[in-house]
Amino acid sequence: MKYTIVTAILISLGARTGTPARAASQPPAAPAPPASAPSPSSTPAPAPPAAQPEKKKVPMNLKVPVEAMLAERIAKQLVAASPVADPADAKARDAAAEKLGACKDLLEAAHSRILWGGFHPEQGYDPSAYRLHDRSREDFFQLTELNPMIWAKLYLSTFMFPGPYSVRQEGKFTVLELDAKFRGGLDAGEYPYPFWHSPNKWTAYMNAEKVILIFEPGRLVASMRKSPNPLSVRLIKRQWDTKWIWTNDKGEPQPRVSLFSYVFSKDNPHVAELDRSYRALESAFRDQNCMTCHAPDNQSRINDLLLLNYPNQALVMRRSLVTVLEDNQMPPGNELAHEPTGLQDPEVLKTLIKLAKEFEKQADDAFAYEQLREARPRTEPAKP
Ligand code: HEC
Repeated sequence: MKYTIVTAILISLGARTGTPARAASQPPAAPAPPASAPSPSSTPAPAPPAAQPEKKKVPMNLKVPVEAMLAERIAKQLVAASPVADPADAKARDAAAEKLGACKDLLEAAHSRILWGGFHPEQGYDPSAYRLHDRSREDFFQLTELNPMIWAKLYLSTFMFPGPYSVRQEGKFTVLELDAKFRGGLDAGEYPYPFWHSPNKWTAYMNAEKVILIFEPGRLVASMRKSPNPLSVRLIKRQWDTKWIWTNDKGEPQPRVSLFSYVFSKDNPHVAELDRSYRALESAFRDQNCMTCHAPDNQSRINDLLLLNYPNQALVMRRSLVTVLEDNQMPPGNELAHEPTGLQDPEVLKTLIKLAKEFEKQADDAFAYEQLREARPRTEPAKP
């Protein structure tokens, strides 16, 4: 994989010869990092004759994929939305979350879902390489699926962007790679979940150097954080009390950022009902042990992990949940344990489907309100 990356960079650098694309892909004040490959290029391997180091050659007909232009735009918006601040400054983070969650280009590029996780050099840029198979390594990296707005506000906002970035092709993928620093000094309730449940994961977050966005033709499919080789850094530990959720001194549910109130506007009239419908669903999930698998430690190694134990991170499944329950596909059966697929009590199943539909409706209403709210002129007071 390393070989492929280096090759791609060389091709990209080669293709840059004689084109003005470089200036456009780096913010003016930022020094170009040596390993970056700034030119968006759809040039396929092997490098064409234009890649020879001849001077002042007229640019060839290099087609820039639309994704590369979109990536450029998004890069500038991310850098503006989440500048470098004190990594313990929760207000700076909230401000960044607000801006990132309103970044239309970003959210529209992702459509209804995005995959998020750690980048592994051997697994590379294709998100399908993060789906578990028979011969996957012990430390195989997997991804979590999230609603794009939730991902932007909760996860992306934990990173600050000093400015430098590059856009390049990796096979059929357009990759935007931004220099990034993690906000490592926040209180526990400011993270989507306690990343430090795994010291390896926390160390990777704390040392993260880049955030990458991966576009396939027509769509932003995944985002990953890039960290140095774990063997080259010291393990960073943060005490974990084994609780995924908890309440703070004031009796408020935590993590604070996992609540609907963190992602929807204060005047959104659907949030209270949405929360009630989620709590009813959550209680049923607990009774049926859904959380044993659908929690951050991903005990059953689900591909594109779906988190059910955090209100706003569960939003991405509002439609698939109804389908999965109507087909009675969960929990998955276990042949060895002679456990059949699906819920065995028809009354329980009926109740869950009803609760799931209610959650879907409330969630749709809450999202629809946000969209209309954005469309309204700012001076007009928000109507309930
Ligand atoms: C033993 C582990 C386990 C348990 C318990 C479990 N699930 Fe799953 N769940 C999985 C796996 C594995 C998948 C992925 C299946 C696939 O990709 O084919 C999945 C997928 C799903 C999906 C589809 C995800 C998507 O991408 O949209 C939903 C919804 C879901 N589960 C809900 C539930 C609910 C509700 C319960 C409790 C009634 C539950 N699960 C219990 C392991 C589990």
